[in-house]
Amino acid sequence: MLFTLLITFMVCTLPFQVSTIYENYKDRQTKLPSWYQPVYFSAINLMYAHSTINPIVYGAMNQTFRKGFKHLMDRSVIFLLVF
Ligand SMILES: *[C@@H]1O[C@H](CO)[C@@H](O)[C@H](O)[C@H]1NC(C)=O
Repeated sequence: MLFTLLITFMVCTLPFQVSTIYENYKDRQTKLPSWYQPVYFSAINLMYAHSTINPIVYGAMNQTFRKGFKHLMDRSVIFLLVF
């Protein structure tokens, strides 16, 4: 599980890290290429997506987490039905 989390983290954050390094270490005179903006936008979204992927990985790989989450959801449904 730890390995999966590590790989997911690396895959999700690497594009952002690479694009930030590229932006900071290119020549100051050279303009950013036209493809950079969509790539950077995708990299940021992928980084945010990591926060969504993380609980899915936990739920898929940890039975204790899955049971606890189910319990919490059951309680939440009861709470929403009552109030
Ligand atoms: C699974 O999740 C529980 C908490 O929900 C945690 O205490 C436990 O260490 C986790 N197991 C693994 C293998 O990460």
